[in-house]
Amino acid sequence: MRILLVGGNGTIGRKVAAALAGRHELIIAGRNSGDVRVDIGSQDSIAALFNEVGVIDACICTAGTGFYGAFATMTAEQMRPGLDGKLMGQVNLVLIGKGFVREGGSFTLTSGIASELPARNGTAVAMINGAVNSFVLGAAQELGQDRRINAVSPGLVEDSFERYGANFPGYDLVPMAKVVNAYRLSVEGAITGKIVKVY
Ligand SMILES: NC(=O)c1ccc[n+]([C@@H]2O[C@H](COP(=O)([O-])OP(=O)(O)OC[C@H]3O[C@@H](n4cnc5c(N)ncnc54)[C@H](OP(=O)(O)O)[C@@H]3O)[C@@H](O)[C@H]2O)c1
Repeated sequence: MRILLVGGNGTIGRKVAAALAGRHELIIAGRNSGDVRVDIGSQDSIAALFNEVGVIDACICTAGTGFYGAFATMTAEQMRPGLDGKLMGQVNLVLIGKGFVREGGSFTLTSGIASELPARNGTAVAMINGAVNSFVLGAAQELGQDRRINAVSPGLVEDSFERYGANFPGYDLVPMAKVVNAYRLSVEGAITGKIVKVY
């Protein structure tokens, strides 16, 4: 398969890339790294990405993040980058990219455990992850039989423990191999309209 992996140099993305690289043609996209550059917060940038990459069999997104901070002082402005990036960035990858994904192809987006079990200070991220999941449920119906779409919803992954562990007390660490398998299930399997929870 010809697979576009947006965020393929991130913590999760690089492990997904390593697992897929041997058996597929992989194109890594990132904001500051990768084979091609994209800012998923910009529709123009996403359109340019697909025009550059052309027809693909699968689009995976492991890019984006959201605001973590005190709810008492959180503002709409603080939430905006996550809404524009992780949420609308992934939505626009589908809306713009569906014309470039072959029949029988797939989209795999990334949400996260916060949709169900938000960490303290994680309300904005919880909302974004929930919205990504709901978008996938609706889009799967609209894409019909021709193209599949799923979300992988990871828990706190083991490779992120040093970076985020202190902010997620009580969360089990998810082995990277399990997270990678969830992306493989979505891309190489036959499921659609699923939220693949890995926690
Ligand atoms: N890590 C976890 O434990 C965990 C748990 C649950 C959910 N998640 C979700 O999983 C996804 C990946 O997490 P991660 O920990 O792997 O993140 P990460 O290490 O921060 O990597 C994110 C990647 O996305 C790219 N990126 C960020 N913003 C972008 C943008 N606007 N346009 C294009 N590329 C962009 C970055 O590229 P550049 O470096 O080139 O900018 C980077 O390669 C995120 O949605 C995160 O919320 C992660």
